[in-house]
Amino acid sequence: MLSTLQSVLEKAQRGKYAVGAFNISDLEQAQAVVTAAEILQSPVIINTSEKALEYAGIENLSAIVTSLAKHVKVPVVLNLDHGRDVKIAHHCLQQGWTGIMFDGSKLPYEENVATTAAVKKYAKKFGVGVEGEIGQVKYKEDMKISKKPVLATPEEAVDFVQRTHVDALAVGIGNSHGLPVPGERLHFDLLQRIHRAVKVPLVLHGASGTPTASIKKAIHYGICKINIDTDLRLVFTASVRETLKDQSIFDPRAYLTPARHAIMDEVKKKIMMFGSNGKAK
Ligand code: 13P
Repeated sequence: MLSTLQSVLEKAQRGKYAVGAFNISDLEQAQAVVTAAEILQSPVIINTSEKALEYAGIENLSAIVTSLAKHVKVPVVLNLDHGRDVKIAHHCLQQGWTGIMFDGSKLPYEENVATTAAVKKYAKKFGVGVEGEIGQVKYKEDMKISKKPVLATPEEAVDFVQRTHVDALAVGIGNSHGLPVPGERLHFDLLQRIHRAVKVPLVLHGASGTPTASIKKAIHYGICKINIDTDLRLVFTASVRETLKDQSIFDPRAYLTPARHAIMDEVKKKIMMFGSNGKAK
């Protein structure tokens, strides 16, 4: 069943677990994520980045995820991940997206506030919740320029939530996208202070490769949504490589079926780690 971002996160916050937000860009990945959630009776968030929308087509992804969601009882959120273009965010809302992450973290702070608030205002007309970002969760390209983390602050968190009315807040606490790089660490003291300062569910991006103990600690300090992309790409591609060692294979289904299973198994592991299994109702 298609559900809104805010509804699954409110429940997660009350139940002290986190909902996985898994990036997909095609049918196989979407099927794998929804099937894993259904097997473990877990709510799930399907993340679609702007690049995924460009790759697969906005209407196609909407049709795929909406159809998959319709056929399961577990809550499925169709979420825009790292929206940076307001027009794309609006288009997603018009096409049935049920969650929007607007990422203004690279903008000057005041511009981040103003743009996120405007997206939130528009999304409200659709009854859809919005996640914003403060601090920065860097990408590999950003890390080449500077490895120094851009950390969120509790004061900024309070101000940002008050002025944008976001339903969830992604925080830069030393995390970065992709597998953790040497020296990368999560600043739990900071997360704890932000958690005390604001009431909204907090979001951890860049969680691939993060050890279970750190994930559990993050959930303890208010993380209710955890984003996973790289770990899924790694298992998918490893599976395809393995299958294609057999040079006689040429039917895409022969290598996409085990790859789909590999993603499903990985998503199941994450769901168990995040504690959202059995929380579908
Ligand atoms: P990873 O690629 O590190 O899992 O990060 C995913 C993410 O945060 C997507 O928004």
